[in-house]
Amino acid sequence: MVSEDLKIPVHIGIIVDGNGRWAKEQGLSRSMGHKAGADNIEKIASYAFEKGVKVLSLYVFSTENFKRSEEEVNYLMDLFAIKFKNYSTLYNKQNIKVVFSGRKKPLPEKVLKMMEEMTEKTKNNTGGIINFCLNYGGQAEIVDAVKRIVKEGVDVDTLDIESFSKYLYQDLPPVDLMIRTSGEQRLSNFLLWQCSYAEFYFPETYFPAFTKDDFDLAILKYNNRDRRFGGIKYEDKTN
Ligand code: IPE
Ligand code: IPE
Ligand code: MG
Repeated sequence: MVSEDLKIPVHIGIIVDGNGRWAKEQGLSRSMGHKAGADNIEKIASYAFEKGVKVLSLYVFSTENFKRSEEEVNYLMDLFAIKFKNYSTLYNKQNIKVVFSGRKKPLPEKVLKMMEEMTEKTKNNTGGIINFCLNYGGQAEIVDAVKRIVKEGVDVDTLDIESFSKYLYQDLPPVDLMIRTSGEQRLSNFLLWQCSYAEFYFPETYFPAFTKDDFDLAILKYNNRDRRFGGIKYEDKTN
């Protein structure tokens, strides 16, 4: 249980990694690992919003994941299409707005259709935002922002960090806590811009096995961090 006086991060990112290794350990196919991971997203996302998180960004498919076998990519695309269909009812019930970050090309039509539907059906919800990062790459996002800026003929002298952020896929607050499951300690091209001052936490657990208690522990770890943002703490100002 997370106690009431804990600081809850406004924006949490999760790199939901380890589906394949989890499946291997269980003697299952990689596909079954992805299915278990997707099921767990529902549980963990609902819990995060219950705890007071306002924005949850989930890395569910990177631009680089298209390098995987056709069979695995097709399975994942089918899984997204099926899951997203159920998610609109689920997130409407919880008053959660669903947004997507990533490039549309070359996502299949069935996935794009579900994405549009879900965005539309949940657009007026006010209880929190779930940002599915699908066919997402942090470098691609920055390039795409620059392209928009050039195409729109923006006067570059007016650009600053705040106005540049408005050209990213979504206008969201910065990431406070970035969690990557499975023990890997890298960003793998996730939310490069938004993580400029994020705290990082790398639990060993594979995502399908990541529980509400593991989520609580991540919040506890976050509360033990000293976020300075380049400054110094008042009590340390000795000279
Ligand atoms: C993360 O699990 C899910 C996606 C990348 C879609 P992985 O499939 O990367 O699982 P591991 O890292 O091989 O265990
Ligand atoms: C990052 O995981 C992408 C997602 C979790 C969707 P990967 O498993 O693709 O990353 P690498 O290849 O280990 O860096
Ligand atoms: Mg992986």
